[in-house]
Amino acid sequence: MTQAATSSAAAPQAPAHIAIIMDGNGRWAKARGLPRVAGHQRGAEAARIAVRSCGELGVKYLTLYAFSSENWKRPVAEVDDLMSLLRFYLRREIGSLAEQGVRLRFIGSRERLAPDIITEIERSEALTHANSGLTLVVALNYGSHEEIVQAARLLAEDVAKGALRPADIDEAMFAARLSTADIPNPDLLIRTSGEQRLSNFLLWQAAYSELVFLDTCWPDFSRESLDQAIREFHRRDRRFGATHG
Ligand code: FPP
Repeated sequence: MTQAATSSAAAPQAPAHIAIIMDGNGRWAKARGLPRVAGHQRGAEAARIAVRSCGELGVKYLTLYAFSSENWKRPVAEVDDLMSLLRFYLRREIGSLAEQGVRLRFIGSRERLAPDIITEIERSEALTHANSGLTLVVALNYGSHEEIVQAARLLAEDVAKGALRPADIDEAMFAARLSTADIPNPDLLIRTSGEQRLSNFLLWQAAYSELVFLDTCWPDFSRESLDQAIREFHRRDRRFGATHG
């Protein structure tokens, strides 16, 4: 039996879509007297572990919050470090991701991203487009408020063109104009490092997600952390606003 099969056999059934706010890289580094970039580097390794583990568990979608639209407020050197890391990760991992059958998707605004990063994004999406394993959604330069405003703008344009009546706008039409239009909502949303907030991440999509907050800082996130979050997910009673049947 392979390592993957062994781990899968012991694990509880995985949710279809897991979303993760990878928090605590800076604190992890600070606690070890290291520069923040060392935390992000280890964070990128943890992301690799999360992708592999989700693939093994049969998770269909994994969304990782890699860079928020608010992260531009960080010092230029740290933004540069994060972008370099992403560039490096994409170039180094794309072969292995493709081999694992992973389909890559990016959500978030392409504005302000360096041209070579946009090229890398487009290349990796095109290269993995036909894969049928885990869909890895990377939220890059992503912010929910901006995404929701953009959806409203698109609906307003349709109304202005006479293609849509305001009274006919419903939730499905709104959701269809979000960057996640063809992606199911997350079942489980994990945030590491003990912080308990959504930080402008998937605000519409997480309406009924189970939120699990782990004390572990992201660089220490492991297969065991994932299993722990999934076990907690299974202890929850999901009613989607209804009562028990
Ligand atoms: C939060 O830690 C983490 C980030 C802002 C960036 C996350 C990026 C990575 C894990 C690396 C690249 C990702 C991929 C998918 C290759 P923080 O810096 O806010 O930590 P702190 O709150 O302790 O300061």
